[in-house]
Amino acid sequence: MNKILVTGGCGYIGSHTLVDLIENGFDVDCVDSLINSEDKVLKNIEKITGKKIINTRLDLSKEDSLSILNKSYNNIDGVIHFAALKSVSESVKNPLLYYENNVKSFINILKFINDNKIKAFIFSSSCTVYGNTRELPVHEELPFQETGSTYGRTKQICEQILSDYYSDSNFPLKSISLRYFNPAGAHPTYLLGESPINPPLNLIPAITETAIGIRNKLLIHGDNYPTKDGTCVRDYIHVMDLAHAHCLALKHMLNDRQSNPLEVFNLGIGNGVSVKEAIYTFESVNNIKLNYEIGPRREGDLPAMYADNTKITKHLNWAPKYTIKEIMRDAWEWEKLRRPLSK
Ligand code: UD1
Repeated sequence: MNKILVTGGCGYIGSHTLVDLIENGFDVDCVDSLINSEDKVLKNIEKITGKKIINTRLDLSKEDSLSILNKSYNNIDGVIHFAALKSVSESVKNPLLYYENNVKSFINILKFINDNKIKAFIFSSSCTVYGNTRELPVHEELPFQETGSTYGRTKQICEQILSDYYSDSNFPLKSISLRYFNPAGAHPTYLLGESPINPPLNLIPAITETAIGIRNKLLIHGDNYPTKDGTCVRDYIHVMDLAHAHCLALKHMLNDRQSNPLEVFNLGIGNGVSVKEAIYTFESVNNIKLNYEIGPRREGDLPAMYADNTKITKHLNWAPKYTIKEIMRDAWEWEKLRRPLSK
């Protein structure tokens, strides 16, 4: 049984991925600093899978984390590195925190991989690395453009570090960077979902918070973009589809099906959905009227971003099982269960 170390396993994507890995026969270890998550999520993972997981609380950006990892984990076959800060606005206000946390922890994880001759590595990247691109849908060969945030730059830098790392490495590590588009939705048991500690700025949590009455209205950030209905277009992907891609990527690398040492894959459905379409879908699937109004543009927003996912469907045999309708259904069910209706 292959043993996988998952960093940031108590987070939104990490927790869903732990479930998918266990259900696909992997043995897992979890490391999470819990600065932006809670380890009670592991109880729910146990309810779903029957498997007890203990988190090692560790801040991977700290000096001593490498020696702790080296002492504690010496039989690891693969690493999935989710642990990172992810607020765009916070990263603009506090760039050093983001460089320190996201880049230092990435380097420490690579050192750990190097020291232990680990065979497979997955990095959580983001479509934000494409930055202000004019070409749509985006494909993996496009050069990075200015991203407009420190968060985005940390993702670009980590991808660059990984690529540089291979120029001087002579052991058979295989790596995959997965560039996520917009993850949303929840586990079908509704035992796992997104539980941001700070008020969410992303669209789908903002929609569910409005529907449940935590916000009295949803503000659409601009309706004068050059898109189908004037609102921004994104590629929303169900967190279950996103999680499963990690399992396929690990199998691809551990079963020696990857010829290049380093590969990059877009991880999106490939379908552009506008803010208005997202709202209408939420309303019709859940039979709810949402209170919303048009506000000004949000600084740094791109008019449109959606994936060309040909590469991942072809090479990893990945195919999304969920549509925007199920994303909206599951996001709402999760919201209702974690916070009873406050209206
Ligand atoms: C944001 C981040 C991106 C990150 C991604 C993760 C910015 C500029 N970008 O992307 O780096 O990788 O989240 O999921 O923050 N919207 C509203 N009203 C709201 C909230 C959002 O109209 O209350 C709109 C936004 O203007 C945008 C769309 O909904 O057009 C999606 O927003 P969001 O969920 O924040 O995702 P991204 O902008 O794609």
